Parts: sequence; C-alpha cells; structure tokens
Amino acid sequence: MKKSPRARHSQPNRTVSIVGTGSYVPEKILTNAELERLVETSDEWITSRTGIRERRIAAPGEHTSHMAARAAERAMEQAGITAEQIDLIIVGTVTPDTAFPSTACHVQRILGAKNAACFDLSAACSGFLYAVEVAQQFIANHTYETVLVIGADKLSSIVDWGDRNTCVLFGDGAGAAILRYRAGSHGVITTFMASDGNFGDILHMPGGGCAIPITKDNVDEKLNTLKMNGRETFKQAVLSMGSAATKALEQAGLTTDDLTCIIPHQANMRIIEALADRLEIPLEKFHVNLDRYGNTSAAAVAIALDEANREGRFKVGDYILLVVFGGGLTYASSVIQW
Ligand SMILES: CC(C)(COP(=O)(O)OP(=O)(O)OC[C@H]1O[C@@H](n2cnc3c(N)ncnc32)[C@H](O)[C@@H]1OP(=O)(O)O)[C@@H](O)C(=O)NCCC(=O)NCCS
Repeated sequence: MKKSPRARHSQPNRTVSIVGTGSYVPEKILTNAELERLVETSDEWITSRTGIRERRIAAPGEHTSHMAARAAERAMEQAGITAEQIDLIIVGTVTPDTAFPSTACHVQRILGAKNAACFDLSAACSGFLYAVEVAQQFIANHTYETVLVIGADKLSSIVDWGDRNTCVLFGDGAGAAILRYRAGSHGVITTFMASDGNFGDILHMPGGGCAIPITKDNVDEKLNTLKMNGRETFKQAVLSMGSAATKALEQAGLTTDDLTCIIPHQANMRIIEALADRLEIPLEKFHVNLDRYGNTSAAAVAIALDEANREGRFKVGDYILLVVFGGGLTYASSVIQW
C-alpha cells in the first residue's frame, strides 16, 4: 500500500532485497556459422575476438514487451507474488515496442498488473542496474512495497544486418527482478551510477528521434540502425566498469576478496578478462553466458543474474557485484548482499 509523504518522512530508510529473478530468451538460435552466410566473417574471427558462439533472435511478432513479460512471470513465481501486488514497473530498454506507450505499460497490460505505475528507463546496456537503483530508492523511502524491474531488448530490430562490425555482437532477451523490503536481510547495499554524454556517438542510433525522424531517405541511409566505434567502446567499457566496481566497493566498505560472484555486462569476453585483470579478481568468479546469448543490451546482466541465482552460484549472506556499461555513455555497479 502506498504511504503518504508525511508517513515517508517520519520513517528511516530501509534496505531493499531482490526476492525473485527471472529471464527469457527467444527460441531461435543464430550461430556464427549462419552469420558467415550473411556477412564477410568467420566463426573463428567472432569467437576469438568476442567469445560469442551464438545468440537468440526474437520471432516475427515477438516484441520487447513479450520477452519482458515472460521474464517477469518467472521472477514473480520465484518471489511468490501476484501481478496485483506490483506497485511499480520499470523497463530498461532502448528498443521499446513503441515510442509511446512505454514498454512498461505494455508489460502491465500483459501481466494484468493493474495497481502499478509504469515507465521505461533509457540507459542502453546499463538500463537494468539504473532501474534497480531507482526501484530501491522508491522502496527505501517507503513510497512503494513491491517493484518489478526489467531489462529487455530486441536489438535484432535495430542492428544493420549488413554491417559485420556490429551484427555479430548482439542478441535478444529479457531479465527481471522483484524488489521488496525484507525484514532482517541486507539486500542492495549500494549502487554507483555515472554517465558521460561526451562519448555519446561511440555507440548510438542516430535516427528515429526528433533530431532525425523516420523518413524514407533516413531509412535508406540506415540511420535507424545501431552505429559503433568498436575500439573506443572497448576501451571505455574496461575503464568505466573498472571505476564503477571500485567506487561501489568503496561505498560498501568492502574489498574484492569479500565477493563470491561478479555479474558483468555480457558484451565481449576480452572486456571481461581485461576487467578481471584490472580488478585483480580471478576470472572464475565472473558469471559469463555471452557465448550463448551475445550482448542482449539491458537484458544481459539481468539474464546472467537469474542464471547465476538459479545455478546456486551464491547463497544467502554472500556478497555479489553487478557491473554494467552502455551507450550514453552510462555505467553502474551494485553491491548486493544476497
Ligand atoms: C568490435 C570488436 C569485437 C572488434 O575487435 P577488434 O579486435 O577491436 O577489431 P578491430 O577494430 O581491430 O578490427 C580488425 C579488423 O576486423 C574487421 N572486422 C570487424 N568485424 C568483423 C567481423 N565480424 N568478421 C571479420 N572481420 C571483422 C574490421 O573491419 C577490421 O578490418 P581492417 O583492419 O581491415 O579495417 C571490439 O572492438 C569490441 O568488442 N568492442 C566493443 C564492442 C561492444 O562491446 N559494444 C557494446 C558495448 S555495450
């Protein structure tokens, strides 16, 4: 039940836990061998440069909201909550079903979450962790009890399938978490978030907004597809995730030795290796699934969190660290005591 502003101010902040996770990937698998038939590339090049072997591609008519809702249902089932109990739905996405209504409103309709307020959050691949932080603020200050946070993207809809520099990297999927206050648990200890708009054009989609509206000429020039400076993006990813993880650990008063598991953004195995090196954390502590799904944007860290949770990679009381990076630039890291 929502509290009045007066009630909020009279109560101390409270800690917020992830009480359920869920994920969904489409059935269709697109392998590196199949990509060899689309563009001038090879399985050997893709695997050695990125670690990606295959990715999932949404079916025709399968939208971001459909994937998001499937992931949400699994998270709700694990959390043991009904759709009516959800106070707020936040979807981190850069591939919304429609510019408006928000994808969160589409998800609300599919789930029947009639008591929820809904909005999307645009932070590219960092969207899920940014949304976790927004959700935790609302719960900590007693505005809401139960928040559904989703990272979902259908990047196959904005990839230029003729550009070998980008089309081999991305896939479709969704991950979700239910956040609530849970007495006696520790939950989300801290989140560090940052952005640098000066690097906006190293990873972006120029068209489709009011600056470059959808016109026939703009579409002919493929301005409605994702553009990337790969080398600069690689460099910024390592720097920014390294700095976000270090700042989050400092804020939490912890060191890397305290961590049981690290769940990084799933963009490129070489980025994860460089991050592990920089933070001096053994690679075995990182949960990696990009070999199977590629980079699913806002969904990536959320799918990895759900997988690691269901595989039992950490137990109650363990410290885990989530760290992400995306277009914007945006980057963030959360320390969570499970
Ligand atoms: C894209 C990326 C894999 C390229 O790897 P790289 O080692 O930096 O490769 P380079 O940029 O040096 O390119 C080497 C060559 O491979 C070519 N190449 C690019 N994609 C290719 C592909 N799919 N298959 C074969 N060759 C390819 C390039 O055209 C270039 O050729 P050239 O030297 O003749 O111009 C890497 O830069 C990367 O992962 N960047 C980060 C991308 C990312 O994570 N984006 C999302 C962040 S949220």
